[in-house]
Amino acid sequence: MIEETRLPESVMAELLKIIPGPEPPLEVRIPRIPVAEEEITRRIIPVSDPKLDGNELRYLTQCIQSNWISSAGRFVRDFEEAFAAVMGCSHGVACSNGTTALHLALATLGLGPGDEAIIPAFTMIATANAVRYTGATPVLVDSERETWNPDVTKLSAAVTPRTRGILLVHTYGHPVDMDPLLELADRRGLWVVEDAAEAHGARYKDRPIGSLGRAASFSFYANKIITTGEGGMVTTNDPELARVARRLRDHAFSDERHFWHKYLGFNYRMTNMQAAVGLAQTERLEEFVEIRRANAARYTQRLSKIPGLTLPVERPWARNVYWMYGVVVEDAFGISRDELRRRLARRGIETRTFFIPIHLQPIYYSLFKGQGYPVAEELCQRGMYLPSGATLSETEIAYICDAVRDVRDETT
Ligand SMILES: Cc1ncc(COP(=O)(O)O)c(C=O)c1O
Repeated sequence: MIEETRLPESVMAELLKIIPGPEPPLEVRIPRIPVAEEEITRRIIPVSDPKLDGNELRYLTQCIQSNWISSAGRFVRDFEEAFAAVMGCSHGVACSNGTTALHLALATLGLGPGDEAIIPAFTMIATANAVRYTGATPVLVDSERETWNPDVTKLSAAVTPRTRGILLVHTYGHPVDMDPLLELADRRGLWVVEDAAEAHGARYKDRPIGSLGRAASFSFYANKIITTGEGGMVTTNDPELARVARRLRDHAFSDERHFWHKYLGFNYRMTNMQAAVGLAQTERLEEFVEIRRANAARYTQRLSKIPGLTLPVERPWARNVYWMYGVVVEDAFGISRDELRRRLARRGIETRTFFIPIHLQPIYYSLFKGQGYPVAEELCQRGMYLPSGATLSETEIAYICDAVRDVRDETT
């Protein structure tokens, strides 16, 4: 049986200085909100909630009534076309989740054993895993302190003769500074794939993210800006890449004869029911993005008055979609990030810590032993995000910001 990876105690003792402590228990009763004298009806304020009150139920009912529930139903094509169009792409290949979409994009590009792909150290585990599933090796770059995105000035030093491409992440909804990255990739003959799992609707210099490299992948997990419960999509403007990705997604069945396979394919298909929800959500993507941006503006307005918190930025060329509203808890705040989370949890406010960087993960520790990515480590130590979903009310944001201020006042 497969065994879990355990790090030696001496290593763990060092890592515990950086990685977050245990999850704080959430108290499930929210008191009357003093700011608005208004009762919050939910028992906790979640980090992110789906909003499913458009055409979701109507389209789903059509799946059931028509008996089309597999990936062969028409909503899959309709969703692919609608979503790809919004992302400025001519092709979309819907998948079972964001990780399979990532793997599909990389496998289609032919990434394999002996190859390297550059990824940020500060990302969710799926970015690195997708590279490993192909047999290739991820090579890490550190992040920028302000946008939390991969630092494009550090990319060049990570390129080796084995590098095939760059898999970048638009972290928490802020686009990466693409022009210098694309220029480098072009000069060195590398492909660029966007891991856009967190950034539906973001724009770089008024161009939609998801259309800026050879391909991009999106996640539609329930906490994402639009959701299908579980789901993902590869978007591209390359018809050949889309054709091969479509084939690989479906066991690589060939056109000449059924049950004849000339590629090692996968079953990464999306069901018609997931796509029905996805289409209804895509119809409202712009509205959901505007809600998140308005929530972020409210947070920034209130939290900027509290010393010791570094808030998210929006570069002049960027449209940040604030998938999650992150804050970095600096020493000047007076208590640690983990202590702030514990105290917010007692007030019914759910939060999440920032990512634990790839090189510190038990499964990747030996691969990256001795390597340091100080910005990623600092973000891991100090960063957290606040409730950010589309169902969040203005009153709840006021309650959360007051709670953060009260916690700080308690300590000073
Ligand atoms: C940057 C990034 N890439 C990939 C994924 C994986 O997506 P999924 O959970 O749909 O497989 C996520 C999920 O949150 C993510 O944040």
